[in-house]
Amino acid sequence: MPLHESKSCGLDTEIHVWKITETFEDLFDQVLLNDTNLIRLNNMKSEMHQRGFLSVRMLLQSAGYSDHDLYYDEFGKPHLSDGRHISITHSFGFSAIIISNEKTGIDIEMQRDKISLIADKFVDTEFDFLEREASDYIRKLTVIWGVKEAIFKIQNEVGISFKDHISVFPFEINDYKTSALLTFANLNKEFSIQFEEIENFTLVYAFEKN
Ligand SMILES: CC(C)(COP(=O)(O)OP(=O)(O)OC[C@H]1O[C@@H](n2cnc3c(N)ncnc32)[C@H](O)[C@@H]1OP(=O)(O)O)[C@@H](O)C(=O)NCCC(=O)NCCS
Repeated sequence: MPLHESKSCGLDTEIHVWKITETFEDLFDQVLLNDTNLIRLNNMKSEMHQRGFLSVRMLLQSAGYSDHDLYYDEFGKPHLSDGRHISITHSFGFSAIIISNEKTGIDIEMQRDKISLIADKFVDTEFDFLEREASDYIRKLTVIWGVKEAIFKIQNEVGISFKDHISVFPFEINDYKTSALLTFANLNKEFSIQFEEIENFTLVYAFEKN
């Protein structure tokens, strides 16, 4: 199945989500790749990763761009040559991109029980509002993880700890939004967060508040 969802979010932001059901060959035949990314693709060990990577190129094409409009900096962060902000995510059967005039980050995660085993590694202040016995505990943990990944994609700096430096404000799953704070070195930044659930995946996107 191709494009799962395409929507505008605010005046200057678009989000595109792909459900990856095509084979590697089907995807490969439909995208244009620049030389650097062709080498990257060939060096990927897992076919799922390759299909995720190719499906992102399908999403770029849906948004009116191609691989030739995309480049990566030394940290692996993607940029568009027209200066708009882009963030990319892929996980198992889904991939997503967000394109905006604002600084933005996106993350998609599969909801898995085993996230509770590492909760102590990335949750701190959020334990004040989480209930370990609640039926939506795993779903909330997945949102929190996604928020921290999405913020890290905006402000990726060596030394940022998900647990110590990023704090997610209380939320309910049905709110589909929350806020978060990054406090690191001299930085003190607030982010607005939106999230949605697609099948058993959680899609989170973050914007830096002005
Ligand atoms: C870079 C990172 C954010 C990627 O996230 P991920 O969940 O592993 O993978 P996703 O599929 O969601 O995102 C991958 C995409 O992120 C983008 N990306 C990679 N490095 C990036 C960076 N430094 N900044 C912004 N975006 C980046 C790329 O577009 C990449 O996909 P592509 O190379 O195929 O284009 C992640 O690997 C990372 O380093 N996280 C921080 C580590 C950490 O502190 N963990 C806490 C443990 S408690």
